[in-house]
Amino acid sequence: MNHPILNGTSTYNDLFNNQWEVYQKICSNNYMEHRQFSESLNKFLTSYFQKGFSMLDLGCGDASFTSYALLNTTISNYTGIDLSSAALDIASINMTRLGLGHLKDCLSLIQGNFLELMPELALNNKNSFDVVLMSFSLHHLSIEEKEIIIHNIWNLLRPNGVFILIDTVCQDNEDRETYIERYLEGVRNNWSELTPDEYLMVANHISTSDFPETQKTIYRLAKKHDFTQIENLWIDSSNTAQSLCLYK
Ligand SMILES: C[S@@+](CC[C@H](N)C(=O)[O-])C[C@H]1O[C@@H](n2cnc3c(N)ncnc32)[C@H](O)[C@@H]1O
Repeated sequence: MNHPILNGTSTYNDLFNNQWEVYQKICSNNYMEHRQFSESLNKFLTSYFQKGFSMLDLGCGDASFTSYALLNTTISNYTGIDLSSAALDIASINMTRLGLGHLKDCLSLIQGNFLELMPELALNNKNSFDVVLMSFSLHHLSIEEKEIIIHNIWNLLRPNGVFILIDTVCQDNEDRETYIERYLEGVRNNWSELTPDEYLMVANHISTSDFPETQKTIYRLAKKHDFTQIENLWIDSSNTAQSLCLYK
């Protein structure tokens, strides 16, 4: 798939500067329910990992979401990858703030396209991570690219490791067009702090770049690539996004 975001770092940084403020506004108003996703992930991580664990965060953005999910967990090592260097500059601050200061020397932030970095990562870091997280960063990809990512993530995980996928999910028998219409209806009705221009930016982004899968499709791909068990950690109130835990 040829996506404008993936055509080069400078293009992406321009997009970042233009759209990040809107994304931050969406997050600070909790329109995508990041708070609930973060709480449910935090609950899972604190109960599943009693000892230090390592995390790879693909499409970490400014890591604001992840840093809240990691508070009071036993996280000992964090690697974040994102296309935007501007986002990663903020991520380094967010990941070492109060409560995560111990990560200062165990923090790796890599600027790049995770699709391109994946083969090398998988080769050099086989069985290296306890958790791989993708939060709202998989849905731009084609189904073939999603499958490659899932396959590589399995290789990157340690035995008993988990892949946490938080992303848009459409219902069975709901095609992409119907899902996008349903999602945008929710945006129009509930994202009341957006200006008309911001709404247009969001609507344009979602209609051109969002390619959600059904839960069944994700389960099928996970099974095909040897994940043993799948658990649903959280579904948002409008049934448009889910947090899925795939166990190696
Ligand atoms: C919607 S934001 C999500 C940020 C954060 N994970 C969250 O949940 O708030 C998507 C992020 O994924 C990054 N991203 C999308 N595709 C990417 C790719 N192919 N390689 C690296 N980063 C990517 C974008 O730069 C952006 O920061």
